[in-house]
Amino acid sequence: MKKLARELDSVPILSVATPKPIAGVPHPIPYQGSKRQLASYIVDLFPKDSHRLIEPFAGSAAVSLAAGHTRRIRRWLINDLHRPLIDLWDQIIRNPEDISDRYQKNWKAQLGNQRAYYDLVRDRFNSHHRPEDFLYLLARCVKAAIRYNSRGEFNNSPDNRRLGANPDTMRRHIVGASALLKGRCSLSSVDYREVLEAAQPGDLVYMDPPYQGVVDTHNHRYRHGILYDEFVTALERLRRKRVAFIVSYDGRTGMKYHGRALPACLGLTHVEIPAGRSTQSTLLGRDDSTFESLYLSPEIEVDDHQLRHGRHHAVDTMSLFAEIA
Ligand SMILES: C[S@@+](CC[C@H](N)C(=O)[O-])C[C@H]1O[C@@H](n2cnc3c(N)ncnc32)[C@H](O)[C@@H]1O
Repeated sequence: MKKLARELDSVPILSVATPKPIAGVPHPIPYQGSKRQLASYIVDLFPKDSHRLIEPFAGSAAVSLAAGHTRRIRRWLINDLHRPLIDLWDQIIRNPEDISDRYQKNWKAQLGNQRAYYDLVRDRFNSHHRPEDFLYLLARCVKAAIRYNSRGEFNNSPDNRRLGANPDTMRRHIVGASALLKGRCSLSSVDYREVLEAAQPGDLVYMDPPYQGVVDTHNHRYRHGILYDEFVTALERLRRKRVAFIVSYDGRTGMKYHGRALPACLGLTHVEIPAGRSTQSTLLGRDDSTFESLYLSPEIEVDDHQLRHGRHHAVDTMSLFAEIA
């Protein structure tokens, strides 16, 4: 009986919201796995009085940028264990015009000789780790995916169909991101557990750890991974401190679950949000929709209607009732 109750406890709420990227949010770093699409749904869940957003697994920081653009957050702690990403963020935030000029220089120098120029920049990045070279590689490489070989060298290939974002577009995104974050954001490149130690009640922590399926040592998509048990312990500590948090944690395609769910004993609300059909299912002619999983700590006080439909839908329905009345 006890077991049944626990299982029922962890049945997720199935949302019918179809989140879309928020128009006008700057997004300077192309990044596979970016949460751009889901960001609107996520930032709508933030408690109103959150005074700082902590992103321990920031990547391209899509949620931080959406939260700044929609004025939900005015202070940030952005962290990622991958040092070149944080060095790039540092330049984007502190020296937006300079890093834009350097990107433009790389972008123009490649014209007419893109394949050889990509290889040159990739070799140079592997020796010197310059932020402008990293940005160029992310803009040009296949699926904007960070991949390293066993020697720790960036080894993803170029997407030969694309030149990478036009320098004017890139500058607009860089300058926009800097305007939101400059003077209001601390950056660090340490393990997520160190960052969580600094979290206090009143902070809001958004966590998007690497997919469980790609953290094994043979897969070099991410150079670092996290262990399930250590992650659960870190979340227990946040619960004890009463820090509000939201976790993106894998999901499912059709009935195929990617990785283990977070345990019911953490007392989190689990929501599944539709994220379209997987490319593979479309190719195979199957209708296996993909769902992203979100887990919310009890400090995130939102009603069931918002979880199921998203906030904007809820507002629309209410104004419709008002009109009818
Ligand atoms: C799924 S990505 C985050 C994507 C991000 N939400 C976005 O919108 O771009 C996960 C990130 O966690 C970082 N990471 C991996 N292990 C980590 C660790 N132990 N501590 C902190 N960051 C880590 C990776 O470098 C990667 O950038």
